[in-house]
Amino acid sequence: MSILDTIRAKARENVKSIVLPEGEESRTLQAAAILAREGLAKPILLGDPEKIRAAAEAAGLTLSGVTVIHPAESPDFDRYRDALYELRKNKGVTLADAARLVSDPMYFGIMMVKFQDADGLVSGAVHSTGDMLRPALQIIKTKPGIKVVSSSMIIELKDRSIGSDGLLIYADCVVNPCPTAEELAHIAISSAETARVLCGIEPPRVAMLSFSTKGSAKHDLVSKVQEATKIAHQLAPELLLDGDLQFDAALVPDIGASKAPGSPVAGQANVLIFPDLQAGNIGYKITQRLAGAEAIAVLQGLAAPCNDLSRGCSVEDIVNTACVTVVQAG
Ligand code: ACO
Repeated sequence: MSILDTIRAKARENVKSIVLPEGEESRTLQAAAILAREGLAKPILLGDPEKIRAAAEAAGLTLSGVTVIHPAESPDFDRYRDALYELRKNKGVTLADAARLVSDPMYFGIMMVKFQDADGLVSGAVHSTGDMLRPALQIIKTKPGIKVVSSSMIIELKDRSIGSDGLLIYADCVVNPCPTAEELAHIAISSAETARVLCGIEPPRVAMLSFSTKGSAKHDLVSKVQEATKIAHQLAPELLLDGDLQFDAALVPDIGASKAPGSPVAGQANVLIFPDLQAGNIGYKITQRLAGAEAIAVLQGLAAPCNDLSRGCSVEDIVNTACVTVVQAG
């Protein structure tokens, strides 16, 4: 069973409501119909109901089990506007700004999640990563005890001898360009939770990656990874986590044993924390292209789950990302 099949099965066991702000967009519409029909989620489409119904009819889609909400005409509009104003007035947002923002389906959807009127949100078929992330960061904010929102990339390799039966978590590959040592520690803790909740990886073994193994090189960049390792140990003493480790020392048993003897992680890591976004983003794309691996992006650390799509996404990608969000909400 692939990881996506496992995630779909988990979603079906505990169905949650997922708001799709890009409700008038054709791939989103098709995905909503599939999610409802297959009992994977309770989809909520945001947009003009007439346009949505006409598009569904033209595409021969049935929208039974799909809720459609027009943000500007919703009975919740005033409540969300006032709440958004209260939340952001210290940042210069006026009541008129709040009204304008809440009529934008992206903000309306985020407010639905904030107020638990939806369990999670999936967007990005039309919007950029930044346009989707910014309102989530401003309004939903981080989980208690977690300092930064970040991302995990679930990597599924053809070679099942690597990681946890072919599964690896890479982080952060999407959000934080240049995390501090403290932020890196929080990214590591969130990624271990993603490994458990979404992939059933038990126990997560977290490698804090560097170009140095256990101080073999001296540089400020290495010191940051060592400091992050120390902070993560203090925050989560029970977590199997080690650093600084080179990629091969983290993954290859012989090399791990010779370069970091006695480490509970070296040679058997399944969660790989990259020191910055350049390394993480390049690393996952190398794995995807050269090893032919599946790569599934997941946002983590938000107080309620929201996930981003690539603008080139397929209908299947939207369905899969919605299922990931359902499992996170559970
Ligand atoms: N975690 C929690 N909160 C955050 C984070 C974070 N990682 N980053 C920003 N915030 C908060 C800020 O504190 C601020 O809150 P406030 O307004 O209440 O004070 C709010 O979010 C906005 O912060 P800004 O710094 O103004 O946010 P900005 O819009 O500049 O950037 C963003 C945030 C969009 C996440 C930015 O870091 C970014 O662009 N990251 C890279 C995204 C990207 O291009 N990824 C690679 C491509 S995707 C791919 O390859 C799959």
